[in-house]
Amino acid sequence: MESPEHKTLILQSALFFSLFLLSVLHVPAQNLPPERVDGFVYKNTPVDSDTIIIEAFYDPVCPDSRDSWPPLKQALRYYGSSAWLVVHLFPLPYHDNAFVASRALHIVNSLDDSATFPLLEHFFKYQGKFYNAQTRNLSRAHVVSEIVKFTTDVVGNSYYSAVKSGFNDTKTDLKTRVSFKYGASRGVYGTPFFYVNGFLLADAGSAIGFRQWKNIIDPLIRAQGL
Ligand SMILES: *[C@@H]1O[C@H](CO)[C@@H](O)[C@H](O)[C@H]1NC(C)=O
Ligand SMILES: *[C@@H]1O[C@H](CO)[C@@H](O)[C@H](O)[C@H]1NC(C)=O
Repeated sequence: MESPEHKTLILQSALFFSLFLLSVLHVPAQNLPPERVDGFVYKNTPVDSDTIIIEAFYDPVCPDSRDSWPPLKQALRYYGSSAWLVVHLFPLPYHDNAFVASRALHIVNSLDDSATFPLLEHFFKYQGKFYNAQTRNLSRAHVVSEIVKFTTDVVGNSYYSAVKSGFNDTKTDLKTRVSFKYGASRGVYGTPFFYVNGFLLADAGSAIGFRQWKNIIDPLIRAQGL
């Protein structure tokens, strides 16, 4: 049987070990839920109980996410204020530069939120630069500095140092983690994933064409009128 002294010793060692781990790992504070809901709202139009709510989970360096964006944009134009979109970033772990690209979007969104979607489109257009094979021999620091330059192509050179120091700010890392955690908590495991009025659409992980969007949304709007 263990003596009380022995137990105290075990407890003290456990406490010491935990403190040691904390000091070694430097775990940054990660408060969940976050202070603001995750996601980038596409057009800040009013939402009411009839608004069709679309949530898109995108990886900026994913080809299927890229391919799904033009038809979704077309659908949003078509439905006007009847549909509302929020984009969540979901950097896939097997896309080496997805987290850095997503972080650039969070940095830009906090500097000038009118540049968020233009930067997302810029990533979609030139994402090939940041694919795994194309960056295999590059250091992480090199890729970050390329992405800083790439980002200022959209937001302008005057933001160069702000974007650069954004990558040195733990807060932007945490925001990007929150995006990932939010997607994971919703059951997202690939991109693009679309939720309509809170429910996951079939064919998750593939692009949806404009006609498919119409086939999904038209019946919902018709049913609201019944
Ligand atoms: C990476 O380095 C290897 C070995 O030097 C070379 O064969 C390959 O072509 C390089 N890849 C790229 C994308 O530069
Ligand atoms: C990043 O921040 C650290 C300290 O917070 C500082 O020493 C370092 O110079 C910064 N690096 C850049 C590139 O801004």
